[in-house]
Amino acid sequence: MLLIEVSGTLDIVETVLTESPETAAEFIKTGGIVGFPTETVYGLGANVFDVAAIRQIFEAKRRPADNPLIAHVANVEQIEELTSELIGSAKRFIDAFFPGPLTVVLNKSDRVPMIATAGLNTIGVRMPRFEVARRFIHACGTPVVAPSANLSGKPSPTTWEAVYEDLDGRIDCILQGVATEIGLESTVVDCTGDIPVLLRAGAISLEALQQIEPQTVAVEQDTSDIARSPGMRHQHYAPNARVVLIPPRPLQTDHAAYIGLRRLDMAVDVERICSTVEEYAHELFEFFRRCDRDGLKIIYCETVSESGIGAALMDRLRRASER
Ligand code: TXA
Ligand code: MG
Repeated sequence: MLLIEVSGTLDIVETVLTESPETAAEFIKTGGIVGFPTETVYGLGANVFDVAAIRQIFEAKRRPADNPLIAHVANVEQIEELTSELIGSAKRFIDAFFPGPLTVVLNKSDRVPMIATAGLNTIGVRMPRFEVARRFIHACGTPVVAPSANLSGKPSPTTWEAVYEDLDGRIDCILQGVATEIGLESTVVDCTGDIPVLLRAGAISLEALQQIEPQTVAVEQDTSDIARSPGMRHQHYAPNARVVLIPPRPLQTDHAAYIGLRRLDMAVDVERICSTVEEYAHELFEFFRRCDRDGLKIIYCETVSESGIGAALMDRLRRASER
């Protein structure tokens, strides 16, 4: 028997599964929380103006209260509900990359409750390009705050089944969609200072941002700058199994798995060879979850060159291996 550990005031609820964005949106409109697909990973959504529903998100995920949420919008008008002013760099990024896998951090409007932004005066805003996500947010009639729909610390979910695995009985509804197209979380860029700062690597690369705003820089991971992206301090993306980056060569082949572009010259229990870096990024989190389900102890991951989505992939691989 599987016992669900319930923290705080969270009651066990029936989690409704639906393929209808409109049905899922009804739960948001009545104060509930809903898992839904985007092109990056699945999110766990609530009405951005509903403090009680946002509190449920933190409880359901067991998310630390100092980790702010991203607000998802269906159209440009909804951005105006979230921010006091749109400065030049943010406007240019929005014109260039919305809808898409980019989150811009803006100064928040007074209407946005502090619980959504973990006490910050800024808010991350993103417009997913996945059509089902936009239909869902549109039907909600409000911007939807959503972290990734996993238990805190686990790999982000790229299928509705992964959301179910982590959150069945803890959330009101799952909007069932296909496996997410990209498989890694959005790029996060802070546009509130003098120059834009890349806080989290994603499918929109630093080079792509620099084509719009040449002065954009990547955050210094080891300095106080990291305080600007509270979520990056927390353990992320990690399976239970130990993650080891190769080369060098694997040592243990018992209860071991491998994912990468090149074939290994030794046998492991589970092997996933990807033909492109995009496919590797797309498969990584689901592979981590599969290895945990199979009770594997160690996962070898091939390192890749840090161009395009390779930079985001290496970021997630490093975080998963740092334990
Ligand atoms: O692709 C994605 O971004 C997915 C889908 C669901 O949209 N969402 C996602 O949310 O990955 P989450 O909560 O797992 O990660 C949000 C990241 C965290 O690292 C958080 O610290 C950062 O964005 N963030 C959010 N709001 C911020 C803010 N106001 N200032 C700085 N960083 C912020
Ligand atoms: Mg997350």
